[in-house]
Amino acid sequence: MSTPTVLAPITLTDAEVKLLQTLVYQECGMFFDERRIHFLRDRVQRRLKACNSESFYSYYRLLTSREGKAELTALLENLTVNETSFFRAKPQLELFQKTILEQILDRKHAKQDWTLRVWSAGCSTGQEPYTLAMLVCDALAYYYLRNPSPVEMPTPKPIVPPPWKVEVLASDMSYSGLLTAQQGIYSESQVESVDYTSRLRYFDKLTDKYSIKPALKSLIQFDFHNLKTDFLPRRNDIIFCRNVMIYFDEAEQKRLVDKFYHCLNPDGYLFVGHAESLFGLSTKFRMMHMNNATAYQRIEGHE
Ligand SMILES: C[S@@+](CC[C@H](N)C(=O)[O-])C[C@H]1O[C@@H](n2cnc3c(N)ncnc32)[C@H](O)[C@@H]1O
Repeated sequence: MSTPTVLAPITLTDAEVKLLQTLVYQECGMFFDERRIHFLRDRVQRRLKACNSESFYSYYRLLTSREGKAELTALLENLTVNETSFFRAKPQLELFQKTILEQILDRKHAKQDWTLRVWSAGCSTGQEPYTLAMLVCDALAYYYLRNPSPVEMPTPKPIVPPPWKVEVLASDMSYSGLLTAQQGIYSESQVESVDYTSRLRYFDKLTDKYSIKPALKSLIQFDFHNLKTDFLPRRNDIIFCRNVMIYFDEAEQKRLVDKFYHCLNPDGYLFVGHAESLFGLSTKFRMMHMNNATAYQRIEGHE
């Protein structure tokens, strides 16, 4: 019986790592600077092993070929940081629900425009879009109490009071993240930050897990979008892109913020991570800062 050949680990030269750094940047905007280059090196090394590559050259050729699309996706997935949680950065979510949503609902109500579209760009494993959907549903239920709509409430009471129509778009470039998000099943520790009322209203309890109720899930559209591309979903009232741009360099951050400007409806809002800001990136947004949270409103009249 012949023993399988075990390939010696390939050590990458600095020039080879640089080639990959450029390729990754071109593909998805993530920039691995000096402080993070060891992470890129480590993850590429793992992919080389997983692919049984004989040399860096053959791996790089695969990545840049038509047949190598799946491997390129796998490499990019290995480079992303998927950390997320339900109700992450509460002050921001309070600003979203209590002030901004209220303002948008009032504005839309006056115009008899009953649609609301929120986009979670870089949704990871789904906790962010589900959080947003829960907050919107609660806000609409409360809004409906104070502003009964012209349409009679059907029984059983739907999750979104008619004639309102809510769409939460959840996108990422990680297929495995999107798959987990779409399944909507989370462990006890993952739902720790969800209060009991929301757990009861929006989750079904499985033996040792929590599953998002179908009614909440039905409000969410999951989709693959690489934020590096020019074709991004438009006509959003609010965009959340939190903890994604931190992995981009300044030039790419500026390009993305400019694209978000065009993806928002007039007077729409953009939320970035609580440690991120649009300072130095764009003058097309007006900053709103309240109770330790920030949001950015589109200023009309820019190209
Ligand atoms: C740290 S998670 C943030 C999740 C969530 N927004 C939050 O704040 O909890 C970053 C996510 O951005 C995604 N991402 C990174 N670069 C991306 C790109 N070019 N296009 C789309 N998604 C990207 C990653 O796949 C990852 O799921």
